Amino acid sequence: MDLETLSARLAELQAAGLEAIASATDPASLEAVQVAYLGRRGELKTLLGGIGGLPAEDRPRVGAIGNRVREALEAALQGRQAELDSAALEARLAHEAVDVTLPGRPFRRGSLHPLIETNREIARIFGQFGFVVYEGPEVETDVRNFQALNIPPDHPARDLWDTLYTDVPGHLLRTHTSPGQIHVMQQTAPPIRALLPGRCFRYEAVDASHGFEFFQVEGLMVDEGTTMADLRGLLDAFAHAMFGRARPTRFRPGYYPFTEPSVAFDVQCVVCDGAGCPSCKRTGWMTILGAGMVHPVVLRNGGLDPERYQGFAFGLGTDRIAILRYGINDIRMFLENDLRFLEQF
Ligand code: PHE
Repeated sequence: MDLETLSARLAELQAAGLEAIASATDPASLEAVQVAYLGRRGELKTLLGGIGGLPAEDRPRVGAIGNRVREALEAALQGRQAELDSAALEARLAHEAVDVTLPGRPFRRGSLHPLIETNREIARIFGQFGFVVYEGPEVETDVRNFQALNIPPDHPARDLWDTLYTDVPGHLLRTHTSPGQIHVMQQTAPPIRALLPGRCFRYEAVDASHGFEFFQVEGLMVDEGTTMADLRGLLDAFAHAMFGRARPTRFRPGYYPFTEPSVAFDVQCVVCDGAGCPSCKRTGWMTILGAGMVHPVVLRNGGLDPERYQGFAFGLGTDRIAILRYGINDIRMFLENDLRFLEQF
């Protein structure tokens, strides 16, 4: 091959290569073009292999032309690669674009359970008097649920609480939130103002006003010089905040082994305003909680000196308060999880 032919072939190779590069539409075909023209066994190498047949003085010229062809092809390859990259990016952006002007999908919003609402309202009211919320365990020891509360084994007062026992000896499902009194006294130094809301369990036949699980809120105040008058004033303030200023209240004598003296706290029936109706069993009053001055034995079991400290405690039924608040007539509805009921709150 002579110089002229070789030069012409190189020019043809460049033109064909440029065209192949321009028409490559994806990275894979572009790479195939690169291998075909500039690879170790590519067309340019093969053509330049013929350089040995030229006279010595022509070789540098052909080498220079070969270099220019290589440079031209490499530049074109790079340019095309950049074009393909930006086209791919454009396509991705278009594909993944989010239309921010579309309206959002609506989602269902839940609401607080009426018992939770009631609990919060109770905590809010007592919170204004400095009471702080604590929680105790639902599985308790016989010691804290009964013995430390001045109810020894075999004491007839145990009949007040029909108990669900566990397989573990000495452990039971708490029948009231009162064991929380022991927890708090053992863990906190007076002055104590504690509120203990929680679920309780009793072995009861279920009907419209009894459940085997129900909710209570325990209150405990311990300080030097705490009196029954403090208890009465606090409970009055609570009843007025919950049921209105004009609602009369009263203390009746009661009995609990862990308080002495003990009382039942009544509010005038919110259904009949005291006239007497089926809801209040025609008495005109509704009992909303039990209370009393903490028994000295209980203070001692809580690690406190009854000569120095006095206290009061109360236990109110959350379900009972919620029933009065919302006019619900069947306690079972609270735990049935029927959305037709729950969505009303
Ligand atoms: N624990 C008692 C009950 O469940 C209520 C109560 C609490 C009474 C605190 C007095 C003091 O019946």
